[in-house]
Amino acid sequence: MPWTRRHLLTIEELSLAEIEQIHTTASAFKQILGRSVKKVPALRGKTIVNLFLEPSTRTRMAFDMAAKRLSADVIAVEASSSSTTKGETLRDTAENIQALQADMIVIRHSAAGSPLYLSRLLDIPVINAGDGAHEHPTQGLLDTFTMKEHLGSLKGRKVVILGDILFSRVARSNIHALTKLGADVTLVGPSTLVPEWFTAMGVKVSYDLKSALADAEVVMLLRIQHERQASSHFPSIGEYTSMFGLNKTRAGWLNPKAIIMHPGPINRGVEIDSELADGEHSVILEQVTNGIAVRMAVLYLCAGGQPENVTPAA
Ligand code: CP
Repeated sequence: MPWTRRHLLTIEELSLAEIEQIHTTASAFKQILGRSVKKVPALRGKTIVNLFLEPSTRTRMAFDMAAKRLSADVIAVEASSSSTTKGETLRDTAENIQALQADMIVIRHSAAGSPLYLSRLLDIPVINAGDGAHEHPTQGLLDTFTMKEHLGSLKGRKVVILGDILFSRVARSNIHALTKLGADVTLVGPSTLVPEWFTAMGVKVSYDLKSALADAEVVMLLRIQHERQASSHFPSIGEYTSMFGLNKTRAGWLNPKAIIMHPGPINRGVEIDSELADGEHSVILEQVTNGIAVRMAVLYLCAGGQPENVTPAA
């Protein structure tokens, strides 16, 4: 099956075959990143604009790095230094970026649906780097890529996502990716942040941390996203941590070989203790590194590349 998609807006719209094509392409790019010369000419002559209208460290830098490894020219636009501060609309900003002859736009925005909106206005590919609490597709792709590196096939694997699910675009993208890949997914946290209706997405919901973590092969922690919460969903941070924070005792309930994941940024001592975030089961920094290869794959494919044309041989 050739790759035909021009935009990457959600994981919800991807087929299992497309997810696997991205992972296969990322695997080939990861081998290239291990060479002494880490650059390929795949996007030479193309210009990619990273339009980040919400804060980011990992995603912005990984997209920047990915574009440069593909030999593209990259321009970063951030909220504080853009004309959005003077009242310019998202539509005008994006149409000006296209008029400046950008070949692709990567957007992070606090409003869900912004990437879809731009994809309908523009003639160039649009890549979603996180839109409100909706989706963060490249995060879901790099998380499942990292899980597959450790576990092989995810079919039937027990994955627990623990924390603020309600306001998490990372949770939604991972749920779509993991259920398509056949994983057995359980969401855990306070009922105010993990409503029952998530079961409609093909996952289990639990409020009993011990039974949810029992024998899990992957636990993914999510931070409390205060920036999206208009009111308090639990009495205090201390009470959240005492009931749902991952500490050494609770990690002992997991499968002994379980991996511990977090998309970042981490709030140490809140959703996860430092000794676990930095411990031998943590793959948190591997997730960050894999973010480069996965984003290279997404940029390459949406620019018209085909998976079979990526040859890692030196
Ligand atoms: N995981 C993630 O999206 O991190 P940033 O907000 O730093 O990009």
